[in-house]
Amino acid sequence: MLLKTALLALSERRTVGEAMARLGLTRRLVRRFVAGTTAEDALAVIARLNGEGLAGAVTYLGEHVASEPAALAATQEYVRLLDMIHARNLDGVPSLKLTQLGLDLSPEICRANVVRVAERGSAVGRRVWIDMEGSAYTDRTLALYAELRPRFPLLACVVQSALRRTPLDVERLIELGATVRLCKGAYREPPSVAYPDKADVDRAYGRLATRLLAAQAEGRHVYPAFATHDERMQALARTRAEARAVEPSGYEIQMLLGIRPDLHARLRSEGLTVRVLVPYGEDWYGYFMRRLAERPANLVFLARNLARH
Ligand code: FDA
Repeated sequence: MLLKTALLALSERRTVGEAMARLGLTRRLVRRFVAGTTAEDALAVIARLNGEGLAGAVTYLGEHVASEPAALAATQEYVRLLDMIHARNLDGVPSLKLTQLGLDLSPEICRANVVRVAERGSAVGRRVWIDMEGSAYTDRTLALYAELRPRFPLLACVVQSALRRTPLDVERLIELGATVRLCKGAYREPPSVAYPDKADVDRAYGRLATRLLAAQAEGRHVYPAFATHDERMQALARTRAEARAVEPSGYEIQMLLGIRPDLHARLRSEGLTVRVLVPYGEDWYGYFMRRLAERPANLVFLARNLARH
C-alpha cells in the first residue's frame, strides 16, 4: 500500500519522467503499455486487435495542459483520430481527459473543445469517452457530461468504485440513461474521499456493477462498460447480466493494452464484447506510473530493464 502511494505521488512529478527520458530508459519500459508515439502506431495496434475480434479505444496521452494552444492541439489530434478511424473503418473510439482539453484553464475552453470532438464523433458515428481523473475533477467532469449528453448521445463517461460518492453519481447517470464505464480508480485520494482498503473498492465495484445492470438501468437504456482486468469482477458482471437476461450486446468489458491479454480470447469465446484501450504519445509518464502503482510487482519488470540498461 505504501509503495502504491509512493508511486502515485511520483506519478504527479513530471520532472522524474523527464529525467527518465533523458536517461533513455523510456522506450523499452513504456512499450508494454503504450503503442508508440504517433497516431499511426496506435491505429496499427487497433487494426491488429480488430483482426482478433477485439474492439479498440485510443488515448492520446496527455493531461493538465497549461495553455490554450496546447488544449486546442490535443482537441485537433482527437478530431484527426476520429477521421482516421472512420476512413480505415476501424472498430475504435477515442477516450480523452478533460484536463488535456483545457479543464484547468477554464470550463468554457474545455467545453468548446469537447464539443469539437463530440461533433466529429457524431458525424462519424463513434462514441467519445470522457475519462475520469482525480476527485478534484469529478464534479466538473460529470456536470459537463450531463450538460452535453442530450446534444451528443454518443458521449460516454467514467466513474470510479474507489470513491465514496460514486453510488450517488451512478444513480444520476442511470436517470440520464448514460453510457458509463465503471473502473476502480487509478488516482491517489485521501481516505475521506476514497476507500483506502482495496477490498472495499472491490466490494463497491461489485455493488455498482450490479446497479448498472439492474432492470431500472436497462429500462433507461444505460450502456455499461466494465473496465477491469479483475477476473472476479468480469465474471460478476457476466453473471449479473445473465441472471437478468441482458444480451451480451448490452454491455462490454474494457481492458488496457499490455494487461492480462491472456484473458481476451476466453472473454471473446463467451460472446462478450472486449474493448482494449490503446494509448500513444510522448506524454507517457503519468499514465505509466499509474500502471506501475496498480501492480507494484511491475517494479520487478522495471528493475530488470534498468539492470539491462
Ligand atoms: P486490480 O487492480 O484488482 O487488478 C486485477 C488484476 O489485473 C491484477 O491482479 C493483475 O493481474 C492485473 N493488473 C491490473 N493492473 C495491472 C497493471 N498495471 N500491470 C499488470 N497487471 C495488472 N481509471 C481512472 O481512474 N479513470 C479512468 O478513466 C480509467 N479508465 C480506464 C479505462 C480502461 C479501459 C481500463 C481497463 C481501466 C481504466 N482505469 C481508469 C484504470 C482503473 O481505474 C484501474 O486502475 C485499473 O484497471 C486496475 O484495476 P483492475 O480493475 O484491473 O483491478
